[in-house]
Amino acid sequence: MDKDFLWGSATASYQCEGAYDVDEKAASIWDVYLHERGLENGDVASDHYHFYKEDIKQMAEGGQNSYRFSLSWPRIIKDREGHVNEKGIAFYRDLMKTCLEYGIKPFVTIYHWDLPQYYEDIGGWLNKQTCYGYERYAEVCFEVFHDLVKDWVTFNEPKYFTASGYLIGNYPPGHNDPYEFILAAYNVMYASALGVRAFRKGGYDGQIGIVHSFAPVNGVDDSLKTKIAMRFADNYANNWILDTAAKGEIPFDLLCVLNERYDLSFMKKEELQVIKENTVDFLGLNYYSHMLVRPYSEGETSLVVNNSGAGGKNTVIIKGWFEQIFDLPDAQYNEWGTQIYPKGLQKGLKEAYERYHLPIYITENGIGIREDVSVEMVDDQERIDFMNDHISAMLNAMEEGVDVRGYFAWSSFDLYSWKNGMAKRYGLVAVDEDLRRKPKKSYYWYRDMIASGAKSIDRKHWDE
Ligand code: BG6
Repeated sequence: MDKDFLWGSATASYQCEGAYDVDEKAASIWDVYLHERGLENGDVASDHYHFYKEDIKQMAEGGQNSYRFSLSWPRIIKDREGHVNEKGIAFYRDLMKTCLEYGIKPFVTIYHWDLPQYYEDIGGWLNKQTCYGYERYAEVCFEVFHDLVKDWVTFNEPKYFTASGYLIGNYPPGHNDPYEFILAAYNVMYASALGVRAFRKGGYDGQIGIVHSFAPVNGVDDSLKTKIAMRFADNYANNWILDTAAKGEIPFDLLCVLNERYDLSFMKKEELQVIKENTVDFLGLNYYSHMLVRPYSEGETSLVVNNSGAGGKNTVIIKGWFEQIFDLPDAQYNEWGTQIYPKGLQKGLKEAYERYHLPIYITENGIGIREDVSVEMVDDQERIDFMNDHISAMLNAMEEGVDVRGYFAWSSFDLYSWKNGMAKRYGLVAVDEDLRRKPKKSYYWYRDMIASGAKSIDRKHWDE
């Protein structure tokens, strides 16, 4: 393994920091949305705000050389006028310095879903003012942290949070409107390009990328109908983020189809030019599963996400486009209905590299499990097997020439899973009810694997 390869783990501000109203932090959409509905929330979460030193030390002792985390916009900017919260900045500067003291590279996501409520109040991602607010926020981040951070991410998973918030309706703001989804998605990609432009204008050292919820598409057969369904699915799940961020172009066939039904006049020529001119340096791919599709057969569009576990089904059917298949008889699923499919990562990495020729980081990979964390050490062999097989898939792809530069386990320690709360745990380290940190078996396995230069991986090979 290259000595500069990043072996790390990842978190996100809302999911782990807690301290939701201290030190003049403004409210985020997640604070308001979950409070209003009386749902489990991240008010305390893993209390990383107070435990970060301990958490980072533990990462270093686990052999990790990078930590991917996100900045909370409402902790840094107090209001729409753009007043800066010095306490928020001091917190992150100290966190970053702690990383560097331990030889850990901070890999920083500027936006991981916790939009300030003061922007939701004027329409959130449906309003272009939010894009300009993001641009100013990103400028502040580059200016105040550039001496400590060299690796930046504009957005975490534009597809996932815009689809969940504006199309499916299970995330804030909880809307259910295809037109809003298209508008919000476009605005986020525009904001991302504005962020890249601000980074380039400032002439900062380092690199900037985007993180995508990567779902490589497979088809049930190789018929033409299936191939067309696959293209629709790929446009829906991947291409509008990756093509737009990496090539500066929204897929043209997607625009043609959308244009038949929706008024796309909100896409302004000068904005498309900003998108064209401000592409990313690298791709961050979060991989949890692939997407197996068949041609659309009948019925209305249906998008259902299992946020309860207990074996419930997920559904993605887009009328006229494609149907996703979730219940294969021989496949292995987690309790939330996500198929465990490491082979998809190998194929996906090859495809993404062939298409974009950019360096790739696997910015998230992990499995959610219901775990009893009252024990001294959680025996999470299932997570070890999952990571072993996915790292194996990554190594296979690298041997086939894909330029992968880092792997981040999701997550560094247990944290709040969106809408699933603490029932769905991902951490290498358990965080129990008293906020005690207790490394799981996977933490030690990961440490030893890193020390071996990945030689301890039980390599798997799959047929094409
Ligand atoms: C990714 C997100 O979509 O998946 C993370 O970037 C998230 O924030 C992770 O926690 C796992 O998803 P979930 O819904 O199981 O928590």
